[in-house]
Amino acid sequence: ALFSTSSSAMAPTNVKNITVFGSGLMGAGIVQVAAQNAFNVTMVDLNPAALQKGQDIITSSLKRVAKKQFPEDAEKQKEFIDQTMSRVKTSTDSEAASKDADLIIEAIVENLKTKQQLFAMLDKVAPEHTLFCSNTSSLPIGEIAKATKRTDRFGGLHFFNPVPQMKLVEVIRTDATSQDSFDSLLDVCTRMKKTPVSCKDTPGFIVNRLLVPYMMESLRIVERGEATPQDVDVAMKLGAGFPMGPFELADFVGLDTMQYIVDGWRKEGKIDANLVAPVKLLDDLVAQGNFGRKSGQGFYSYSGVGGKK
Ligand code: NAI
Repeated sequence: ALFSTSSSAMAPTNVKNITVFGSGLMGAGIVQVAAQNAFNVTMVDLNPAALQKGQDIITSSLKRVAKKQFPEDAEKQKEFIDQTMSRVKTSTDSEAASKDADLIIEAIVENLKTKQQLFAMLDKVAPEHTLFCSNTSSLPIGEIAKATKRTDRFGGLHFFNPVPQMKLVEVIRTDATSQDSFDSLLDVCTRMKKTPVSCKDTPGFIVNRLLVPYMMESLRIVERGEATPQDVDVAMKLGAGFPMGPFELADFVGLDTMQYIVDGWRKEGKIDANLVAPVKLLDDLVAQGNFGRKSGQGFYSYSGVGGKK
């Protein structure tokens, strides 16, 4: 049985309480999905303004979910939202927020030192049984885990944006992650109604390991003047059945984020350098502050609420 009554310290953790660090785009999404699926959740960020932003993200997303689940029934919609929100607590006190946690999910800034500092502190204050994991897209889980003494209870849970809509979670195990911890993480994903896939601690795991080199190669096609971004996007949507073309996807992810990931992997040196060779077109757009959707301009222009023009 997955959850035996064995008193062994290594028994799988039956996760009930989750604490999420970071109330940005990803953190808020993870909090929402956990709360919708009966977990008790505490959302932590540095200050009340950041927490408010996270709560706003959750509220507007929940309204959409409620409308879809209970069309034409305003009362049921309200009940669903209230019930979900009743399972969400917020806090700026990291120590207090981790006291009852069975699982801590970190979704703060993509910076190794910052993540290590957070986990080193949490390792001292969180209960012994608490599982730790990071939602990092591009940093090695093992490097982050090194900041703690619980590398056997440390793994990766890599969610996708937008979290409430995207079904996949990549569950990452390092060489030190115990089978019990790993099983508990898989179980949490299933209870969040997500589909988990397992992957070792490698650059980009599965999805980004394939997507990022593909996006870089798309940039090279355009840089060499062989096709326009528009034509590449149409080609991949209608010819390969992708829901978004690589340039639409790059604008969605953020060109600065893409550049950051590629630069990091190049320095790390674990994957073929040709796959992540710099592309001037990308570096120029980022230098000009054209990050894609979030800055209003990338390969496409975005203005107001209308989205892509
Ligand atoms: P974001 O910038 O929207 O949110 C980060 C939040 O963390 C901010 O609210 C910030 O105030 C907070 N924060 C920073 N340091 C903190 C600390 N020490 N304690 C508590 N809160 C702190 O970032 P986003 O996009 O949500 O990304 C978060 C993580 O998720 C990153 O590691 C990123 O690589 C990863 N990720 C991002 C995806 C995306 O599409 N944006 C997809 C999958 C993973």
